[in-house]
Amino acid sequence: MSINKDIKRITTETLRLMKFENQKISMLTAYDYTMAQMVDLGGVDAILVGDSASNVMAGHETTLPITLDQMIYHAQSVVRGAERALVVVDLPFGSYQSDPQKALDSAVRIMKESGAHAIKLEGGSEVQKSIKKIVNAGIPVMGHLGLTPQSIYQFGTYKVRAKEEAEANKLVEDAKLLESLGCFALVLEKIPAKLAKVVTESIQIPTIGIGAGPNVDGQILVVNDMLGMTHEFKPRFLRQYLNLYDEITGAIAKYVKDVQQSDFPNENEQYK
Ligand code: KIV
Repeated sequence: MSINKDIKRITTETLRLMKFENQKISMLTAYDYTMAQMVDLGGVDAILVGDSASNVMAGHETTLPITLDQMIYHAQSVVRGAERALVVVDLPFGSYQSDPQKALDSAVRIMKESGAHAIKLEGGSEVQKSIKKIVNAGIPVMGHLGLTPQSIYQFGTYKVRAKEEAEANKLVEDAKLLESLGCFALVLEKIPAKLAKVVTESIQIPTIGIGAGPNVDGQILVVNDMLGMTHEFKPRFLRQYLNLYDEITGAIAKYVKDVQQSDFPNENEQYK
């Protein structure tokens, strides 16, 4: 019997119980009202308003340029479209790393101005004071370890993280620390499947993987990637469920032809 079948709104407590009951958690990103409605209706447990909006919505090369105001705009639209899923919003780069008070102020703005239910931020021990301050204010925090895209210029590559023992050990310690600080869940991005299993078995809070293999408590993908809208991005971990890039460009080419040939609008597509 599914825990969340008849639930009106998924909460952080629902996700905790799902881990406890061995029920996998499904999560996708969304950045606007229309997509959020479809993702919600499709039945995901949680929606992430990811700072990947910087890439897929705004066309930036990295997640670094997106601002807090822009994240709040995306979050407001998603919250209006999501009736059932828990809505989690990324704190963007620069809005929480410098000091805990700034981190809390950023998190409060997201919660107050968007109506979202939780925030996510990247990093382990380096950001522990910020996490503590936000959790103490009653705001649910999702952690994010492994390939943390806001640190891409430090990593210098989007390759798999924590293959070496030292980085793997730090990741396990950071996961335990995030749990002890009160995070309600943890994203594990692009790390070896075996390490994700170790982390998942070491903590009581749910782990949500992206490129972290099957032995985690849930999965997340960027919705534009899994629908095949971002046609050039095909990492090994991505399962593409549609090819919307071809579908959409094909439909638009057909529309252009119909207009050029005066086929559109026809008799039924005009007012008498
Ligand atoms: O911003 C994002 O979309 C994310 C997911 C990839 C986890 O952080």
